[in-house]
Amino acid sequence: MLVKQKIYEGKAKIIFTGPQQGTLIQYFKDDATAFNAKKFDVLDGKGEINNLISEFIMNKIKEKGIPTHFLERINSREQLILDCKIIPLEVVIRNIAAGSICSRLGVKSGLKFKEPLIEFYYKNDNLGDPIVNDSHISLLEWSTHTELKQVKVFALEVNNILSRYFLKVGITLIDLKLEFGRVKVDNRLVVADEISPDSCRLCDAISQEKFDKDIFRFDTGDLVSSYRKLAKRLGVIL
Ligand code: TMP
Repeated sequence: MLVKQKIYEGKAKIIFTGPQQGTLIQYFKDDATAFNAKKFDVLDGKGEINNLISEFIMNKIKEKGIPTHFLERINSREQLILDCKIIPLEVVIRNIAAGSICSRLGVKSGLKFKEPLIEFYYKNDNLGDPIVNDSHISLLEWSTHTELKQVKVFALEVNNILSRYFLKVGITLIDLKLEFGRVKVDNRLVVADEISPDSCRLCDAISQEKFDKDIFRFDTGDLVSSYRKLAKRLGVIL
């Protein structure tokens, strides 16, 4: 049994060493940030609900054959995960225009794309996570051509699985952000980080009620109660 040590603290989570070689513990904080942490608050209950939702979603995609870093939920705030080398990219898949694509390219919010649109952002807080393309990624050696091809296949597949699943409970998946890693012991490519309403845009397919972090970004309601409502719709909590 190894002694638990903090190895990394991000904006919403902390990573600790795990109980066995090759594992880590991912701890969900109550901290909420937006606009590269210019906006910050601590929202009681957010960590616990995201831990549950992310567990549920990771298991859903795992069932459909997508490899992930997720092993099991340990308690209300922690998950056991595989130790991975994180690829420094935020992979965003957009079904409907919202958020930064609207301000960056003047696209009308709500435009439905004919097919899912994939974007990559370089994960670097000091630079404000700038958008990058395939050439930056391979020439700056963040990932290889072959690996990036597989990242795109997995990203589209996850989007497809989740879009269909959310629609069954009357929810539209507007966009989502994924992160990928390579498992340290065998170099396998896996979906890493979390998949939660912090990293997706979700709304009711009819009423358009929102269930994601835009509520916090734009102060339009109580984030944690909306996340709980979403968790109930998914059957994650009673
Ligand atoms: P964007 O429209 O602000 O680029 O966001 C696209 C998606 O990515 C949205 O679902 C929110 C998610 N996202 C993150 O998970 N982390 C981030 O740092 C940002 C900017 C967006």
